[in-house]
Amino acid sequence: MSRILVTGGAGFIASHTNVELLNAGYEVIVLDNLCNSSKESIRRVEQLTGKQITFYEADLVDEDVVEEIFAKESIDAVIHFAGLKAVGESCKIPLRYFDNNLCGTLNLLKSMEKHGCKSLVFSSSATVYGKPATVPITEDFPLSVSNPYGRTKLIIEDMLRDIYQADDSWDIALLRYFNPIGAHESGMIGEDPNGIPNNLMPYIAKVAGGELEQVNVFGDDYDTPDGTGVRDYIHVVDLAVGHIKALEKLEKHPGLVTYNLGTGVGYSVLDIIHNFEKACGHKVPYRITERRPGDIDACYADPTKAKEELGWEAVRGIDKMCEDTWRWQQKNPKGYLA
Ligand code: NAD
Ligand code: WQD
Repeated sequence: MSRILVTGGAGFIASHTNVELLNAGYEVIVLDNLCNSSKESIRRVEQLTGKQITFYEADLVDEDVVEEIFAKESIDAVIHFAGLKAVGESCKIPLRYFDNNLCGTLNLLKSMEKHGCKSLVFSSSATVYGKPATVPITEDFPLSVSNPYGRTKLIIEDMLRDIYQADDSWDIALLRYFNPIGAHESGMIGEDPNGIPNNLMPYIAKVAGGELEQVNVFGDDYDTPDGTGVRDYIHVVDLAVGHIKALEKLEKHPGLVTYNLGTGVGYSVLDIIHNFEKACGHKVPYRITERRPGDIDACYADPTKAKEELGWEAVRGIDKMCEDTWRWQQKNPKGYLA
């Protein structure tokens, strides 16, 4: 398995995964419509690794284009990152999310089947655990979702389980990411959200960089040690390495496997702000505001299964996550457009 199609390959997690893939000797073919990313990330990955990426600016929702790419390229396995991911936006325009994430995935799977390419790593999310009854979360916890974005992840997981049930020659890894943050330590690639960030870490980075005034901490009355929400933040490079481990697993024909990719450690919003202050060397102003609808108290992984079966575990701690985010922010205050 040497030629990997990376859908959504210009995005945040994919760009870091591309570095690990190229460094491990894989050939990388990227399909991305750049709806939430920039071609510059591809160029920077090439610069970082000294290796070439075959890039298709294409939309997964366009069945013919996907088919053309599969006909032209000989693809051994797919890592499927492409998708829209903003929870709040998905509640406002659910149809767009269903069309993009579900129809795009269907097109991909049909072409894969047609061309006998049946190895797939799928970007799932801890969002499929809904509001967990307890933490840490193991892979066998009940699944439920509370927003259209999460529903697309759960539907795709269900589709993949059904496909595998019908044809066990597929090899599928469902990777449930917790909260990816950080950036490559070179500061050359990182997270570049459009407009005002929805997620905590890029928001903090922009406050620390002086672009936004203060962090709004969404509630301090949660059932957590300091009252603010607790999450399992994972360095994006650790997450990227998890994909290489998953590909290696698929090569051994495991069938369908599911893994939590998290650290197993929960940090509160205030923990993250204070750790970021250490990294950037100055105060990060914040104020406590209302809870954000749909947020839960605490969410963190039990990552034991990935450690035992993939030989993978997160090794980069919260200091490194904050330092690398800050380096990326300082070097690229306007993201890839600068
Ligand atoms: P991202 O937005 O940076 O990357 C997604 C990429 O997919 C973008 O480059 C976008 O242009 C592309 N894309 C979207 N729709 C497309 C389409 N129809 N055709 C072609 N390209 C398309 O997001 P990310 O944070 O890197 O997330 C990658 C994947 O991981 C997503 O599926 C996301 O749902 C999942 N995930 C992300 C997180 C997170 O917090 N970042 C957590 C869990 C799961
Ligand atoms: C983290 C914590 C907020 C912003 C989301 C998706 C999830 C997954 C990862 C894709 C929470 C608090 C946030 C801010 C804040 N994505 N917060 N002020 O909500 O855990 O997960 O991204 O699959 O599906 O829901 O991440 O970074 O938005 O929030 O106080 O400005 O920070 O309340 O406790 P979340 P987040």
